[in-house]
Amino acid sequence: MIKRYILGEPIYTGAVVRDIKAESVLCEIFEFYENGFKFDIDKDDIVYGLGQAVRGLNKRGYIYQSKCSDDPVHIENKYSLYGAHNFFIIYGKKNFGVFVDTPSKVSFDMAFTSTDELKVDLEYSDYNLYIIEASTLTEIVQEFRQLIGKSYMPPKWAFGYGQSRWSYYNSDEVREVVKIHKENDIPLDMVYLDIDYMKDYKDFTINEDLFPDFENFVKEMKTEGIRLIPIIDAGVKIEKGYDVYEEGVANNYFCKKADGSDIICGVWPGEVHFPDFLNSDARKWFGNKYDFLISKGIEGFWNDMNEPAIFYTKDRLESVFDEIDKYRDMNLDIYKFFEFKDTVANLSNNEEDYKTFYHNYDGKKYRHDIVHNLYGYNMTRAAGEYFDSLDKEILMFSRSSYIGAHRYGGIWQGDNCSWWSHIELNMYMTMSLNMAGFLYTGADIGGFGDNCSPDLMLRWLEFGIFTPLMRNHSALGTRRQEVYQFDNMSDMREIIKIRYVLMDYIYNAFKKAVDNNTMYMRPLSFDYSNDIAARRIEDQILVGDSIMIAPVYKQNALGRMVYLPETMKMLKLRSVHDIEEKVLEKGYHYIDVALNEVLIFIRNGETLSLSFDEKYFSSVKDKIIEYSCEV
Ligand code: GLC
Repeated sequence: MIKRYILGEPIYTGAVVRDIKAESVLCEIFEFYENGFKFDIDKDDIVYGLGQAVRGLNKRGYIYQSKCSDDPVHIENKYSLYGAHNFFIIYGKKNFGVFVDTPSKVSFDMAFTSTDELKVDLEYSDYNLYIIEASTLTEIVQEFRQLIGKSYMPPKWAFGYGQSRWSYYNSDEVREVVKIHKENDIPLDMVYLDIDYMKDYKDFTINEDLFPDFENFVKEMKTEGIRLIPIIDAGVKIEKGYDVYEEGVANNYFCKKADGSDIICGVWPGEVHFPDFLNSDARKWFGNKYDFLISKGIEGFWNDMNEPAIFYTKDRLESVFDEIDKYRDMNLDIYKFFEFKDTVANLSNNEEDYKTFYHNYDGKKYRHDIVHNLYGYNMTRAAGEYFDSLDKEILMFSRSSYIGAHRYGGIWQGDNCSWWSHIELNMYMTMSLNMAGFLYTGADIGGFGDNCSPDLMLRWLEFGIFTPLMRNHSALGTRRQEVYQFDNMSDMREIIKIRYVLMDYIYNAFKKAVDNNTMYMRPLSFDYSNDIAARRIEDQILVGDSIMIAPVYKQNALGRMVYLPETMKMLKLRSVHDIEEKVLEKGYHYIDVALNEVLIFIRNGETLSLSFDEKYFSSVKDKIIEYSCEV
């Protein structure tokens, strides 16, 4: 049962698709005050949700903020990441879901300040509040997801393995990547093009010197079985004669300052304008621009820098230049030094700058910070609405998002690092995002920032083969991260091949989650709610209906504890042909897991079919191998 409460005069967000009649009396479990509400929670209550956020799966014990932020350091002291997903579930004495639907900043004090109190503070006090009561976790999620509409379904090929790098600088480099994967028999379906395929970082252009005859190149790659997936950035370069810039200016499609001029910010190309994705005409216009690449054979995109990320605004840059000069002849002592440093450091993503521009949202003018969390969502929507008008399936995922964007595309988990703790974060975040409707998601496998070690890459792949989006991506200046760069490449190849024999299982489980508004990946508590031990486990994951996984994510660990909430059949896979099976009873088990091994547990009464697709396993005779657990 969903109850809706309207507080003040909320701004339309587009998150929900059902019109629920509002209650006339405020919900009595909560204490409401001017800018939010609070309620008591029981000492054993678990708090799930909030989608993209740092720390564990149970969100209790910290403060999180919904404020889409370009922050590449995903560590425990961060309050916000790229997306705003204001849905959480209280699970324990009482079970209910809460969705705070508002486009501006929200702070969730999850029993941090007081150990038994959950407090939600809103920057602007107008919001829709939805309380979802149901008897099981799955039903709470299902009801919520019916409220927000069906999740995006990507094309089947988007479940393949993708290789990315910031950047592959020309078509020959891409050819080389594809060739080496082939030579080493490593399955590959996609190569991602980062910002350098564009001419001077201009959206919807190609650098013809580096990627000559792009259309034929796309064709050539397709005959190799590879789809190219280019990036699209939010900022549009300011350059006379550049069509996207000219049209945007002429039609008032860019975000404006108070004086009516188009705001000038700095991102990759230098000075840019930001399309006003909240303006439906601008959205339509920008969405149509993807045709420039679709008409060249492109079938998928990733939308980036759409929080939006702002390196600087022209106005602040000017004032900083004025300001720093005064430090020139100063003795930079403890205070002055840091003041000086901060003056420059605060240039980027400065909260104050988000208050200096405006949107034309359905004919009404809104200051950006008030509708901040809808920006990336509406960029995805721009693309998604255009793609819906085509009779082709197009892959779309974004960096920034708000609930609602899950209907138009997936998201990747942003600029993580080559750290062991980020495999763990990847696990929790995927489950939390699934709750909020973002089913097509994954992290940069191997880690985006920093240098990846061979064992980290292998362990990450062993989890990554289960995430819907499976992409290896890394940043400029880091160790090259294609699997053939590592001396344990053959182990990695075998693990990637496991993804391919699981492809049908993964695809069907994913599709079922889309169709039934359920979760593709979920914690054990969803299915074993009466089992106290199962409820406490965060690092074992149910994937679809038939299997549970227990990834190894600790450096140098050669095994781990696994709790089985029922008898299951354990498969220990070293390759698609080298699989050890063993039935294990309910209870705790320490299991050895060598560096090149993946564990899959088949639930009692279930069957897992490994299917060998012609494209990758032409020499295999048996096309389907089944493993069942019957006790
Ligand atoms: C951002 C993206 C990253 C990309 C880089 C260059 O940091 O999150 O994935 O590689 O920009 O485009």
